Amino acid sequence: MRPRQARPNGPDASHAGGDPLAGVSALRSDFVQALESFLHEELDHLESEVSESVRYAVLSPGKRIRPLLLMASYRALGGERAGIADLALSVELVHAYSLVHDDLPCMDDDVLRRGHPTVHVKFGVPMAVLAGASLMPLAVRAIVRSGPRLGLERAAVDRLVGTLTAASGASGMVGGQLLDLRAEGRSVTREELEAIHSGKTGRLIAACTVMGGIAAGASGDELEALRRFGLDLGLAFQAVDDILDLRGTAGELGKESGRDRALGKATYPALFGLEETERISRAFAEAAIAELDFFDRPEGLRAIASYVIERTH
Ligand code: IPE
Ligand code: IPE
Ligand code: MG
Ligand code: MG
Ligand code: MG
Repeated sequence: MRPRQARPNGPDASHAGGDPLAGVSALRSDFVQALESFLHEELDHLESEVSESVRYAVLSPGKRIRPLLLMASYRALGGERAGIADLALSVELVHAYSLVHDDLPCMDDDVLRRGHPTVHVKFGVPMAVLAGASLMPLAVRAIVRSGPRLGLERAAVDRLVGTLTAASGASGMVGGQLLDLRAEGRSVTREELEAIHSGKTGRLIAACTVMGGIAAGASGDELEALRRFGLDLGLAFQAVDDILDLRGTAGELGKESGRDRALGKATYPALFGLEETERISRAFAEAAIAELDFFDRPEGLRAIASYVIERTH
């Protein structure tokens, strides 16, 4: 039986020394600063217990891949305003909510996340449900607040809200999570697996890249290339997550390993084995990177894409 005690020795997301994301480290510091001031402005005046669990969920040491992708997409399309960090908050807030709910006993029933006890272990299930629920409206607030800082017209802000909410809801991430649960304990086809992974992971990652493009005033063709890049990279990302669940340890991952097999999850390794899954994840990442030929300044996105398949947590 797996230990119920969480171990507080998770990965340090800052990777001091040899940071494979060194090229986007300035974006990361902008993001962290924006996150701290947003939480201060939005939560500090609230006399609500929910604030503490929201802070706990959001400020734990995540890799911040989604906001980095949004910011790097904006830069790839020539965007230069610092306010992009304010927009990037929105995708990390949705992601944090998805993790809080993903870990609940009625979902994946996990006790460790980002090296710390999961939100429901620390604060109880009702608080975790409420903290997760409060993160989605906060994400929309983050988009709306970023509009003036990015010099965006109302129509662009509407498109950003539409993109994020569509990717997060029943036809996107929530839908993918449902397919993931429904597939537990049975074998699936490759098409079904791709639908699960695109829904639960690919759609939000594609929303990040598209939102960065919208903020930079990208053309329809450019947005389409960003969407394909995000979807392919999202599939690579989830395939690597599935590999790490089999290969990594809780100390390395900051979350317990071996959970997919224990829960009978539909994963690429379960369907094809580890070696073939490595090949598949590289192929998805290469397909993603091929989309970048379209852009003038693709370096940041390229660095993140390489990191996604090389990462060890
Ligand atoms: C974990 O995402 C959930 C998946 C979609 C696989 P991350 O691996 O990006 O988690 P954090 O944000 O770094 O903790
Ligand atoms: C989670 O996928 C996807 C979402 C949270 C939407 P997993 O269940 O594989 O993520 P981990 O492995 O718990 O981080
Ligand atoms: Mg899950
Ligand atoms: Mg999970
Ligand atoms: Mg996983």
